[in-house]
Amino acid sequence: MSILCCGLVCLDQVTVVRKYPLEDTDQRSINQYKTRGGNASNSCTVLATLGMKPTFFGTLAYDAENLSPETRYVLDSFQKAGVTVHPDCPKFPGHICPNSVILLNEQNGSRTIVHTNLGLPELLLEDFTKLDLAGFTWIHFEGRNNTELLKILQHLQSLPEENRIKFSVEVEKVGRNHEEFIPYADLVLVSKDIAKSHGCSNKEDAIKNFYHKVKLGCRLIVAWGEDGAAGTIRTDEEAVVLSSPAFPPTSGVVDTIGAGDTFNAAMIACTCLNIPLQQSLTTACKVAGKKVGIQGFSNLGNIQEFLQ
Ligand code: FRU
Repeated sequence: MSILCCGLVCLDQVTVVRKYPLEDTDQRSINQYKTRGGNASNSCTVLATLGMKPTFFGTLAYDAENLSPETRYVLDSFQKAGVTVHPDCPKFPGHICPNSVILLNEQNGSRTIVHTNLGLPELLLEDFTKLDLAGFTWIHFEGRNNTELLKILQHLQSLPEENRIKFSVEVEKVGRNHEEFIPYADLVLVSKDIAKSHGCSNKEDAIKNFYHKVKLGCRLIVAWGEDGAAGTIRTDEEAVVLSSPAFPPTSGVVDTIGAGDTFNAAMIACTCLNIPLQQSLTTACKVAGKKVGIQGFSNLGNIQEFLQ
């Protein structure tokens, strides 16, 4: 299954702390490492681990003419993870690779992100329309860059039936009008933060809240962290809400960086494989549960292991 994932790749500089610091205090970290990050990039890594064939598509920062060391690092990392980087990724000389400084709390695996993006341009509709999409089974979009992403989604939806490729969109960040993406996609992944910002107090409420905004046949999913996830398929009738509990790791939570990206990747994989909704929800929660018990995304295992 070839899946095109569009969005951000960045450099994550992770510092592991024994406890979350108070402002204006001094402590020693217990570990530090850099890794490739960004929602679309993380979802690509997980899709590759699960046994799918992901291709990353997003803008890349170059020094004057060459790859910047950070961009070289993230490209090498994609290769090691078995993720194809689309050759037509737009390249921007004179830009700095976006990066995040992340404090990872050893006590509970919480991640506190300070993200820096000093103006690397985002994907445009014209970058996207140049692509040959034949050969992709599915396209996933990280929720960012409203105006252009909206145009891209509308473009995809308007393709003649024989050329239409199904796509998913993430509606994750609050206050950026990403709710505008909801009516277009075949799979809509709404975050707990977004749902709460709409006054929903649990995952089932959230499904009912967004149900009439998605298109007919759409899979609408809301992940609710430690409370698992809920989902439905939009029909003409009242919403039938399915749900799954979370599957917290028995050995404790060590790293929540990209847990949502992992859940999304697993849900995309299940949807591409035509796994029924209930099993998809349970599987995505299991994959995300396994992820938070380990550092990074390697050793998650193939999707078939989770489907048994
Ligand atoms: C996790 C993540 C990190 C990145 C940040 C960007 O979901 O993608 O890898 O630093 O979010 O917002």
